[in-house]
Amino acid sequence: MKIQTKVKLNSSNEMPMLALGVWQSGELTKQAVLTALKNGYRHIDTAAAYGNEEAVGEAIKESGIAREDLFITTKLWNEDVRQGKTEEALKSSLKKLGLDYVDLYLIHWPAKGYVDAYLEMEKLMQAGYIKNIGVSNFKKHHLEHLLAHVHIIPAVDQMEFNPQMQDEELYQFCKENGIVLEAWSPLGSGACLKIPAIISIAEKYRKSPAQIILRWLLQKGIVILPKSVHEERIIENAHLFDFKLQEEDMETMNSLNQNLRTGPDPDNFHF
Ligand code: A2P
Repeated sequence: MKIQTKVKLNSSNEMPMLALGVWQSGELTKQAVLTALKNGYRHIDTAAAYGNEEAVGEAIKESGIAREDLFITTKLWNEDVRQGKTEEALKSSLKKLGLDYVDLYLIHWPAKGYVDAYLEMEKLMQAGYIKNIGVSNFKKHHLEHLLAHVHIIPAVDQMEFNPQMQDEELYQFCKENGIVLEAWSPLGSGACLKIPAIISIAEKYRKSPAQIILRWLLQKGIVILPKSVHEERIIENAHLFDFKLQEEDMETMNSLNQNLRTGPDPDNFHF
């Protein structure tokens, strides 16, 4: 089963379009990552703030998969952005992960000081600790501000994006600027699985609602990071390449937006 469609980043590096998300995977993180890797996933998305970089690192080591065949993302936490501790934070993440570089390092939220943090990340990339740099939870106006002050265009922006939360302005801006959009909470933390229109499309293709949502995102060119700690779901979420949504169904999915966030608004977060 092919599950490794890749997207070319503006750095010219390639990134697998399907990743396992591990936010809130807790004690089950190591097992979930091992299950994903066993089933063909090669991209894992973690963050310093998730508190599970060690578990991800243990799974990577135990999997025996060659480092160059993996794509590992982690993120710089807000307090480290505010305190100008980018280098320290990255080195701490690398140590926990047991790696000497990450494939993608993201600024987790647009916390005060993000331009300076990003400039520091540019240097750390040149020093070989990071292959690609990007941001997370940046709206269009945050990206515009960043682009005006930095040298390297972010490779990705990772944002909450699912059928009920579609930031069309950001989607277009990323497309126009060669920034790959990544969807966190692609299933709306599970809430989107109950939307009747999605259930009915799922019946038409004999797929699950999760597979319909993930396939819709892939066809839009958006990278997906579904989180699950259950083997059958981890496998299900990767079986997306033996069918294609027709244009009318893509349009139905596009029409489900309600600007309904499950997470905080990047213009108004208090952490
Ligand atoms: P679990 O980890 O218990 O399997 P999102 O990635 O949008 O945040 O959604 C994650 C939530 O959706 C988690 O609660 C996860 O539960 C659940 N989930 C993930 N994949 C599936 C699936 N294929 N079917 C049903 N629920 C899923």
